[in-house]
Amino acid sequence: MKIFKTQKELQSFLQGLREAAKKIALVPTMGALHEGHLSLIREAQQIADATVCSIFVNPTQFNDPKDLERYPRPIQNDLQLLEAVACDVVFLPEVDEMYPGDDMPWHIDLGELDQIWEGAKRPGHFQGVTQIVYKLFQLVRPDVACFGQKDFQQVMVIQRLVDIKELPVRIHICPTVRNQDGLALSSRNLRLSDAGRIKALALYRSLAFIKNYKTAKTVDALKDGALQILAQEGDIEVEYLAICERRTLREVDLLLPHKQHVALLVAWVEGVRLIDNMLLD
Ligand code: PAF
Repeated sequence: MKIFKTQKELQSFLQGLREAAKKIALVPTMGALHEGHLSLIREAQQIADATVCSIFVNPTQFNDPKDLERYPRPIQNDLQLLEAVACDVVFLPEVDEMYPGDDMPWHIDLGELDQIWEGAKRPGHFQGVTQIVYKLFQLVRPDVACFGQKDFQQVMVIQRLVDIKELPVRIHICPTVRNQDGLALSSRNLRLSDAGRIKALALYRSLAFIKNYKTAKTVDALKDGALQILAQEGDIEVEYLAICERRTLREVDLLLPHKQHVALLVAWVEGVRLIDNMLLD
């Protein structure tokens, strides 16, 4: 496994791959890797000849400097995990490498995608995400980039970035990794007690309800049914549950056959903010 810390070293290595007509996949991460990330690497390996994983805790996407400071950086463990799944290349830059002093200010018009759901919660977050992802795309020039469906809004934002900038990269959405019982994998699950973990399964059940009954019920009835499943569990605070058109994430009140939809859910269990979603078609 090759490890590069500078753009220059990485670029010269990737040039060799490109000259050999190798297809390159990029998996951008902020480290603290878990099974969800490793599934992205495995999927990337299926669709490309060489997989680059970047590990960079990107300061511009944090609203709170304390969160940035507290963000875990278990780099040795991350490298061991990547080695174990036979990742080809790891890019591990320092902050100055990605944000030199003379860096240009960044703003991209993401329309409503920047203002709604996670965007409303974390102003400026998606500007920071697009800023770093754009830099990584320009640097690696991947044929394909893999992102987890778990952060669905992030994937739609990145797709918008690709469309606006007309970047020659395909965004590959990797399905959310779930435990056998349906709970979406997240490092936050570790903060739940056994009872909280069982409660949290209601998130998956409520999303599955929406998917299973999507043709039989109205959007309002789907949402009511899902909210009831969550309420029956008790002590689950729903932050938002929405049925949206997939690309724009605008809420719909009718599921149209020629459109694609997604159900988005954020709920709190034992003080832990859990995020999940389900594609409806
Ligand atoms: O999802 C993440 O870990 C980050 O937002 C990303 C895409 C690596 C950009 O820093």
